[in-house]
Amino acid sequence: MSVVAIPFKDEDTSTVLSNLEIAAGHDRVDEVWAVGTDKTVSAGVPGIAAASGKRIVTFPDRRVGRFRPGKGDAMNTALLHAADRSVDRLHFYDADITNFGLDWIEGAEKAADQGFDVVRHTFPRASTDAMITWLVTKPLLAMKFPGTTLPQIGQPLGGELLLSSSALQAFANDPAVVQRSDWGVDTMYTYATVEHGFDLYEHHVADGKRHALYGDLSDLKTMLIECFDVAALLRPHPVAHARHAADPPASIPSDLQGQSGYDIDATLPLLTADPGLEEAGIIANLPDGLMTTARQLVDSGDFQALDAGRWGEVLRIAVEAFRLGDKGWEDLLFRLWSGRVVNYTVNHATKGYHHAMDYLASTIDLYEQNSPNRTG
Ligand code: DGY
Repeated sequence: MSVVAIPFKDEDTSTVLSNLEIAAGHDRVDEVWAVGTDKTVSAGVPGIAAASGKRIVTFPDRRVGRFRPGKGDAMNTALLHAADRSVDRLHFYDADITNFGLDWIEGAEKAADQGFDVVRHTFPRASTDAMITWLVTKPLLAMKFPGTTLPQIGQPLGGELLLSSSALQAFANDPAVVQRSDWGVDTMYTYATVEHGFDLYEHHVADGKRHALYGDLSDLKTMLIECFDVAALLRPHPVAHARHAADPPASIPSDLQGQSGYDIDATLPLLTADPGLEEAGIIANLPDGLMTTARQLVDSGDFQALDAGRWGEVLRIAVEAFRLGDKGWEDLLFRLWSGRVVNYTVNHATKGYHHAMDYLASTIDLYEQNSPNRTG
């Protein structure tokens, strides 16, 4: 039995309903689960069920994890439910995709037919979208797990994937996965795939994932902090090597090449926002070079020192010092990350889409090459 689960919260109802309807329309899909609470979504479900002849279930997310209740609880509610019901294949799709189509499901099912345990969808994104992926998650995976599959995974934060029964059973029984109730859940699914030695296929959606983009970078602060925390906590230990294959890259839609992922003008004032006492105290105790960089940012909004090398230093220090809930570190990490995003935008994204993407990929290579965990 193949099930599509769509976790949702505060999303545009018509997009959620349309995605439920599309999922129900695929002949390999037996059931569709809408995980979340929204009366308008629930009201639209019987019509989709009647038209498609499929079982469409809405159920609220349970409190299963121990971090902030969020996306992880919704995904893991579906995961645990699937593990109890002997589901063969569980697909997840984010509820906000505006160009969801049968080809996503088809691509994942075909790769699973070839025996891949986990299929992740990858897709082109605007060069200034995915700034947590490119500046936090991928660098930390490269620094911590050089030479493994982890730094090569295209979109380690993607919420669009298929789990075979063996993967979903293993994840449902892995406390590190189930406890991650917040934005950290996607990183845990990615890490667990490699840690458990599952064969992974990356299915490429050439049209890109279309979704609402962001205002100023504070829209992403909670996600940044939780995604940093989960990646920082992963401890290097040997991870299994399994089959990893991916679709070849395809040409990038031209409208996406010109799109901005966030509002830079609204973000600039955040760089110089007054630090609270906790943040100021941490800045005062940073190593000299970093302290100067942080002060330049706070005092005059000067972000030029935050190149890939200096940002690597920030990550290395924060991995040791950062604690979730420590307001000073949360604010400082957000400020420095915002400075790094603006630095990259001004110095690289403005030089064209392909230059920007090649540059980002080269920074991940650099972090991997310079990793102290690298062997050989
Ligand atoms: C990411 O960085 O991938 C997040 O989705 C924000 O864009």
